[in-house]
Amino acid sequence: MRIVDIIQNKRDGIKLSDTEIAYLLDEYLEGNVPDYQMSAFLMAVYFNGMEKHELKVFTEKMMNSGDLIDFKGINKILIDKHSTGGVGDKTTIALAPLFASFDIGTAKLSGRGLGHTGGTIDKFESIKGFTFPETKEELVELVNECGTGIMGYSDKIVPLDKKLYSLRDVTATVSSIPLIAASIMSKKLAVHADGIILDVKTGSGAFMKSLDDARKLAKTMREIGDSLDRKVVTCITDMDQPLGFAVGNSLEIIEAIETIKGRGPKEFSYLVKTLAAIGLQLKGDVKDLDKGRQMVEDMIQSGKPAKMLKAFIKSAGGDENIVDDYKLLPTAKNSVAVYAKDSGYVNTIEAETIGKAAMVLGAGRATKEDVIDHAVGLILNKKVGDKIETGELLATVYYNDDKNIESSKQMILDAYTISNTQTKERDIVIEIE
Ligand code: URA
Repeated sequence: MRIVDIIQNKRDGIKLSDTEIAYLLDEYLEGNVPDYQMSAFLMAVYFNGMEKHELKVFTEKMMNSGDLIDFKGINKILIDKHSTGGVGDKTTIALAPLFASFDIGTAKLSGRGLGHTGGTIDKFESIKGFTFPETKEELVELVNECGTGIMGYSDKIVPLDKKLYSLRDVTATVSSIPLIAASIMSKKLAVHADGIILDVKTGSGAFMKSLDDARKLAKTMREIGDSLDRKVVTCITDMDQPLGFAVGNSLEIIEAIETIKGRGPKEFSYLVKTLAAIGLQLKGDVKDLDKGRQMVEDMIQSGKPAKMLKAFIKSAGGDENIVDDYKLLPTAKNSVAVYAKDSGYVNTIEAETIGKAAMVLGAGRATKEDVIDHAVGLILNKKVGDKIETGELLATVYYNDDKNIESSKQMILDAYTISNTQTKERDIVIEIE
């Protein structure tokens, strides 16, 4: 078998056999296929896609390229909620203790942030003393103890994805729906979960800018899940403006805690309740989502989720008192207000630009080596649909180093479009399937 023939078949739209896919990926992982040939193959996939069976085999091969984690010994149902990423996305921090309150376990691998989006690992690291388990056994112990265990991705999970992603990044092939679906699903499937909830973001701050593409990605990932006998629910949600008001690590921790105490932003609270209700459906506790949301609301009112979060932080070695006293979190030395330059209604808030405004303050990384400042970030004061007067507060910026403060403020002003007509806020939850 020759690699060039496999590339040619994909280029000409001829369906690849299982052996061709396996040969290509095995040889690439072994270092026997040069990057220029794999780049050509990825570009052929970019233009011609992959049909269902090809994608199943491709994803399964990726999944099996490294360790598989089975989580034997966990005494509860495990649900993995994964988001395709966005700005101000602190959902896991609120959802994990809610799940734990219903005896649904979270045992997941999470990433660090890069570019305009943040990472769950960075957010938890805002908490003094907080450490992540390093072995599967430690993670299992945590989940059994307090319902939640989160650890960083190791290089041993789907090593093929790491290699392919780096290549896609420099060959303009990241935005191929089958390649994104295989990349996400291979990592989800390599780690055992009884149910997978995929929060597929769409809008200006998301990978999938259009709803149509988000639908295609969601469907492709569900099909991969089905083909490999895994339960997958997709939830397409809005990322056309930042999620909630807070962007920045400790600021987002506070907003997530407020949400599980019943005082979160309206749209973020609704998203969290919906995802938790989907979890209850997967567990078999409820059939109807509205009923599920009501159960979640009642649970929030009981105060248990905040207690479960405290238990998780304590088990991870962190200072659990932050749940009651936010001053124990890193706090920026300075703050500055950004005022509106026009009157009218907020039409759009370019989420990616808001993410960058927080990143240049130190809340995120421009390169993998950058060190995060957990204290800094911003709190928006106006969201899409809100009325605003000239000179009214648009956002507050929290910072330590004033080097990039002016550019951050300018980015915030640029991110907002204000016009005379009121735009209706988009629903946060767009489609569930
Ligand atoms: N997230 C992933 O894990 N992989 C992609 O290809 C895109 C987003």
